[in-house]
Amino acid sequence: MVEACKATGKTIGLVPTMGALHEGHASLVRRAVNENNVCFVSVFVNPTQFNNKEDLAKYPRNIQRDAELLETIGADFVFAPTPEEMYSEEEMNTTFDFDFAGLDKVMEGKMRPGHFNGVVQVVSRLFYLVQPDKAYFGEKDFQQLAIIHHMVERSSMAGTFGNLQIIDCPIVREASGLALSSRNERLSEAEKKTALAISKTLFASLEWAKEEGATVEAVQQRVIDTINAVEGLEVEYYEIVDQTSLLPTNTFDHAIGCVTVYCGPVRLIDNIKY
Ligand code: PAF
Repeated sequence: MVEACKATGKTIGLVPTMGALHEGHASLVRRAVNENNVCFVSVFVNPTQFNNKEDLAKYPRNIQRDAELLETIGADFVFAPTPEEMYSEEEMNTTFDFDFAGLDKVMEGKMRPGHFNGVVQVVSRLFYLVQPDKAYFGEKDFQQLAIIHHMVERSSMAGTFGNLQIIDCPIVREASGLALSSRNERLSEAEKKTALAISKTLFASLEWAKEEGATVEAVQQRVIDTINAVEGLEVEYYEIVDQTSLLPTNTFDHAIGCVTVYCGPVRLIDNIKY
């Protein structure tokens, strides 16, 4: 199929997903359908990027509903391999070796050792298999997106994916502000209400950053304290970093604040650009 597309000059768009699709994914797929001749969507809960077995087991899966949704949106191909089809036993059990130039040492990388090795392993494999012209990723996983840009543009793999363009897609939120996530399916109605304080605080922090004398450090701490003051929420980290290097910054220019919060047992992430 890929060869036929290449031979006839058809452009290929790829949307890599782990399924349990929601409106956030749908917005990526719609864009991929509009901007390419052929749209591939992969649905694969990649075991090598989970450092927590329970999280992997509980990750929501619903391929039937996903396939129906993808058909309505107009995706041409759904690629939903099993782990055994994707990896040899050795690949499944050894850490994928990759030079992240430090991008994996902060935030999610620090909290979830090996997570990004698994992400790069699966995403690079999908790129080699599907040979897309464009690949679409959501900004909710901002660190993942920064690492994928690094992989395609600056790492030792750069240049091996043809003229592949990585397309950054904005976070999709419920009207309430809650960032859409497959993990929201695990929240009760009450927890969903509690979780609203996350996005509300991030938006408020845009104003705090404009206050006279506001420092990155003070805004960072205020976000953490405000969210932690809500019963049922516990911040794992909130870091305001440079959007490219992901390193701590002392200016709001080109900065992004990335947060991870436990709402009951469910780990939610969100971010805001200053
Ligand atoms: O963001 C995700 O859903 C996953 O990390 C990805 C990019 C599909 C790789 O498994």
